[in-house]
Amino acid sequence: MKVITTIREMQFEINRQKNQSISIGFVPTMGFLHEGHLTLIKKARKENDVVVLSIFVNPLQFGPGEDYDSYPRDFERDRALAESGQVDFVFFPSVEEMYPSSPSIKITALNRTDVLCGKSRPGHFNGVATVLTKLFNIVRPHRAYFGLKDAQQVAVVDGLIKDFNFPIELRPVDIIREQDGLAKSSRNVNLLPEERIQAPVLFNSLQTAKMSIESGERNTQNIISIVSKMITMETNGLIDYVEVYSYPQLKPLERLSGTVIVAIAVKFSRVRLIDNLIIEIDEGILE
Ligand code: PAF
Repeated sequence: MKVITTIREMQFEINRQKNQSISIGFVPTMGFLHEGHLTLIKKARKENDVVVLSIFVNPLQFGPGEDYDSYPRDFERDRALAESGQVDFVFFPSVEEMYPSSPSIKITALNRTDVLCGKSRPGHFNGVATVLTKLFNIVRPHRAYFGLKDAQQVAVVDGLIKDFNFPIELRPVDIIREQDGLAKSSRNVNLLPEERIQAPVLFNSLQTAKMSIESGERNTQNIISIVSKMITMETNGLIDYVEVYSYPQLKPLERLSGTVIVAIAVKFSRVRLIDNLIIEIDEGILE
């Protein structure tokens, strides 16, 4: 496994691989790898000749007062995990390498960003779209792997790939959870001990919503109310949003039908957690 810190060297290696008609799988991350990332790597490993993992905490996608500074970082640990996942190249650039000067072009994510994290984190998806445009151009992968915990991100990236004609296959991967149901996230380490005990309520509330839908509930507001009540009563977290939309369109629904997402974001004292369930109505439950 080779660790690369400059764009020039990464492009040189990619050119070398492409000259040999080799397929490239790309797993973009912000590091502090967990089992969710390892699942993406495993999938990329299985489906491609070469696997590139990027580790870059992208300042552009964090708003003022968000957790850019406290976002967990541990490169040596990440390096060992990447090695164990048989990654070929780790791209680990500095902020100066990625953003050496102020930009002359601005990328704005327009569709599907007026709800969920797009609404509560203004500019977040512009930052995600900008860094991914750069990374896609640097790595030029055949396939790119993203976790469905960030289901809105997957929908936005789908738009980015289509709008800018990147010849990349988007490969969404299911959420990986702890045994108690908490969705794996690099940010979980920033939960206080009592918050860690409460945090599985997020998943339990989504499961309760799913059971209610399975029993015939089709009213969006009733689902939002079931989830909100559980989180408010059983955690000290502050609800940022509990929302239900069609997926992947992210359009509001009065009555639930088709494929829907029940998505939540909850602020604990040092960390904001997100989770979701994507549910196929009428044709059985997907997740
Ligand atoms: O999901 C993430 O970790 C980030 O948003 C990504 C895709 C690596 C872009 O910085």
